[in-house]
Amino acid sequence: MGKLEGKVAVITGGSSGLALETAKRFVQEGAYVFITGRRQEQLDEAVKQIGRNVTGVRGDAANLDDLDRLFDTVKQEKGKIDILFASAGKGEAAVLGEITEEHFDKEFGLIVRGTLFTAQKALPLMNDGGSIIMTGSVASVKGFPGFGVYAASKAALRSFARTWLNELKGRNIRVNVLSPGQVDTPDSQRLDEETRKMFESLIPRGKMGRPEEIAAAALFLASDEASYVNGLDFAVDGGFSAI
Ligand SMILES: NC(=O)c1ccc[n+]([C@@H]2O[C@H](COP(=O)([O-])OP(=O)(O)OC[C@H]3O[C@@H](n4cnc5c(N)ncnc54)[C@H](OP(=O)(O)O)[C@@H]3O)[C@@H](O)[C@H]2O)c1
Repeated sequence: MGKLEGKVAVITGGSSGLALETAKRFVQEGAYVFITGRRQEQLDEAVKQIGRNVTGVRGDAANLDDLDRLFDTVKQEKGKIDILFASAGKGEAAVLGEITEEHFDKEFGLIVRGTLFTAQKALPLMNDGGSIIMTGSVASVKGFPGFGVYAASKAALRSFARTWLNELKGRNIRVNVLSPGQVDTPDSQRLDEETRKMFESLIPRGKMGRPEEIAAAALFLASDEASYVNGLDFAVDGGFSAI
């Protein structure tokens, strides 16, 4: 029997990268998953790769109407949610001095505002005892030049987790942040060789994380094995942020 037998999971940004790998793992463990992404073609390809027990709902996690459509679909098809993995996000670079309103609004609009309303709109469908996981980043505890706005937006998720778990304690809903280090996803594959080597030199094992390694950590946080794990900022980074 799988670790998520009979559970329903919603995964934003699940059409690629580490969240897609997590969706695959959740289904292998017995869950039904709803995944989102903005590009229909990518979403269709992801649904095909997952193969069964999946619904793709096209939408932008920063857009509140799209989020309403997502949760309407979940309500109609399954009527409940056990696991919310709010993972849609993207790190764009701009150093202090060159930060535009557009850059700030885009990063905070998706990562902070989008994640907040994703959780709030999911809540009426969430079963007591459910698990909310947000994708943070170890960037939030580091000081990478150019990633100040992205890092601050991810740090806000750690703060949300602390307040929300307290607000939701009567329903026994756990709220954790999963903070990956550098992971070899399509997004990271855009890095040039020099930047990639630089990142890898900072990781004790000298190799980036694999999406499967993030999926394993997400599975733990989603499952009853993590029943006593709440409010964590769970770094999955090969020790990068610890040294
Ligand atoms: N890869 C890393 O090294 C790393 C490290 C730390 C944290 N993270 C975080 O992990 C998460 C996933 O990263 P990844 O590297 O796996 O990314 P990825 O390979 O680029 O995949 C991201 C997925 O999210 C979707 N997406 C992007 N913006 C969206 C939006 N506004 N609404 C709905 N879906 C959206 C994308 O599809 P569409 O473009 O079609 O919407 C894509 O399917 C992000 O939150 C990122 O900040 C990644």
